[in-house]
Amino acid sequence: CLVGSEMCIRDRGKVMIKVYVSRFDREVDSEPHLECYEIEQTPQMKVLDAINAINEKYDADISIRSSCRAGQCGSCGILFNGNGALACQKDIKDGAIIEPQNFPVIKDLIVDKSQIEQEVKDLQLSLNPQRHDDDLNENLTPENIKNTKKVRSCIECYSCFATCPVIKFIKTKFGGPYIMRYLSKFESDPRDEFDRLDESLKEGLYKCTSCGKCKAVCPKDINTFGDAIERLREIACKEGKGPLPEHVAFKENIEKTGRSIKAEGPSFIEEVKNDNGSKIALFTGCMVDNKLHHIGEALIDVLEANGITIDIPEGQVCCGSPLIRTGQTDMVQELVDKNNEVFRDYDTVLTICAGCGSTLKNDHPKYGSNLNVMDISEFLVDKLDTDKMKELNTTVTWHDPCHLGRGQGIKGQPRDILEQIPGVTFKEMKYPCQCCGAGGGIKAGHPEIAMTLAKEKAKMIEDTGAESVITICPFCQYNIQDGLDAIDREDIKAMNIIELLQLAYQKD
Ligand code: FES
Repeated sequence: CLVGSEMCIRDRGKVMIKVYVSRFDREVDSEPHLECYEIEQTPQMKVLDAINAINEKYDADISIRSSCRAGQCGSCGILFNGNGALACQKDIKDGAIIEPQNFPVIKDLIVDKSQIEQEVKDLQLSLNPQRHDDDLNENLTPENIKNTKKVRSCIECYSCFATCPVIKFIKTKFGGPYIMRYLSKFESDPRDEFDRLDESLKEGLYKCTSCGKCKAVCPKDINTFGDAIERLREIACKEGKGPLPEHVAFKENIEKTGRSIKAEGPSFIEEVKNDNGSKIALFTGCMVDNKLHHIGEALIDVLEANGITIDIPEGQVCCGSPLIRTGQTDMVQELVDKNNEVFRDYDTVLTICAGCGSTLKNDHPKYGSNLNVMDISEFLVDKLDTDKMKELNTTVTWHDPCHLGRGQGIKGQPRDILEQIPGVTFKEMKYPCQCCGAGGGIKAGHPEIAMTLAKEKAKMIEDTGAESVITICPFCQYNIQDGLDAIDREDIKAMNIIELLQLAYQKD
């Protein structure tokens, strides 16, 4: 049957929906396949209710595990439209695709988790009861308790594991968010007797892309990336065991020049020398300042077309994202202070890079910054003069950068902007928020992972038939273009949304 969202069917006041469920019976099937079922959607219906309704209506005998039905036991983990979720908590939707987590399938939605359970046993991820004496308990500091508390409410639903793009697409030794969370918890506990940092490095601590999906799908809201992986990376750097050799250059460049990447001539800021006395300023980010001047120039053109003037102040430095993501945090305070000094008198600070925007909004406040930061799409969405735009006659799709969609909660504004441009046909790709593999130091440290994820993304883009993929992150843009080139689709261009707007405002 066809897979995809379809309109609800109203049948004498009933809301009828179509649900696609993965079926697999090893007695008769060689591999899982999707079956389509139409059921009545009742108020607050969850996935588990929908499966029960399908079983009742069709006598379908779909197998799924569940126990508490209250989001506590973790037994009902499934994939909902490709993301981990609890079947007893997730609202059903028309067109939803329900699949098993990415473990070997036993039947339908029931999977065999014995391999990861064995790994937990092999790593001895539990406290040795023989060591529970009072002396050890006295070693527990408030800091230890605070750190373990952040990551200990896991209910073993494996939603993070099932959603992690590196686990899903890369055949590599990587414990993923589930094991990293566990290791971080025991690393903070002085009663534990193992070297959890060394184990995390062996389990692939530097193979995480920082996409944040593990946090987004966790029913207990555990920030595995920040409170486990970034934390372990920070400890690794303090103990001289991290980062990867390829990450050292970011820091060396920042120490020498304030920028994480080297300039190839004058920087964008030096070239434009743009001081208009505006209360709105641009935070350029290292890529635009030292490499992608044309994106900065496009922004100036677009703002000019809309009668908006901004400052692009000198003295700004890297946001520190490459350092924070790889654990090299010892000079981040210095970077935050320098940027605060430069931007403190502005009402609004604009970003045109998702990674910079997320770092300024989410990390800098921990270092005492309180700037009013806006992504360019948030800023422009209600200010564009569409009468001045020309027809572009093109088909585009949109890639949600992880640090924009999940990092800043911005998904609607860029799509609204695309819809405002005359002649632009917008085609949504299957999973627009699936990580492209550019972040977390992966592109430098594990380029093979970055490329595999980029090619996955490229195939999804190709399937839309779009002529270009639009985004707001220079790192995603580069990596996705590499993926498109690698699948021989150099004709499809990865562009910043500002470049597309520049074309719309360009005079013939
Ligand atoms: Fe227990 Fe869903 S049935 S968490």
